Amino acid sequence: MTTLLIATRNAHKVGEIQAILGTSFRCLTLKEFPDAPAVIEDAETFAGNATKKAVELARWLAQKLPTSNIQHPTPEFVLADDSGLEVDALNGAPGVHSARFAALDKTENSHDADNNAKLLRLLKDVPLAKRTGRFRCVIALVPVPAGKVESTSPVCFVDEFEAQIFDGACEGRIQLAASGQGGFGYDPLFVLDGFTRSFAELGEDVKNQLSHRAKALKKLENYFRLPPTSTK
Ligand code: IMP
Repeated sequence: MTTLLIATRNAHKVGEIQAILGTSFRCLTLKEFPDAPAVIEDAETFAGNATKKAVELARWLAQKLPTSNIQHPTPEFVLADDSGLEVDALNGAPGVHSARFAALDKTENSHDADNNAKLLRLLKDVPLAKRTGRFRCVIALVPVPAGKVESTSPVCFVDEFEAQIFDGACEGRIQLAASGQGGFGYDPLFVLDGFTRSFAELGEDVKNQLSHRAKALKKLENYFRLPPTSTK
């Protein structure tokens, strides 16, 4: 069975990823690696941030594993998720800034309630029909090389670790007020096309079938099922 390290400190994301992948992978989390470095998410795209998170963690693991005495299986891949909400009436905002939307001038993330309040404030004059948008998720998967990695050159930083990218999006709209207690982030405001209740009301089983994250992880599962044929 393939062992993955899920490289996120967002407990909600970890829970969703584990629930969606089920028992087909052995999933480790950053709880098992408390001294893992925090990665600064300063790329302009979801793919850029997901790749940066996965590559930095894979590099750290490759340097650490040969000398460590870990009590659990060795991760073969690092999986990083970068995701967010794109609202058409806001030209795609909050996008890559979704986690820190209400605090864009600070470095730390905002509270979900503050992000949701800001979103409702910015959309206050936008009618329901024009409140369209989508959740987008980009997953980067990077193999952990066996043996110590010496190079620190930023130029070959990504090449060395070859990220596979899997993405997923789900279309919907931003409702006029928050509803529901489930999920996290913008879930209480997001209503998936074809539904009348928010992701926070639909419950995790439904969300984990239909979400942006579920779609991206389905592609990752297919990749392991049907690895691409070599072009060499
Ligand atoms: P990241 O950790 O930089 O990828 O930030 C993701 C942010 O996007 C989260 O903090 C949420 O605000 C938002 N987000 C991503 N996925 C979801 C989701 O499934 N539901 C609700 N909000 C989400």
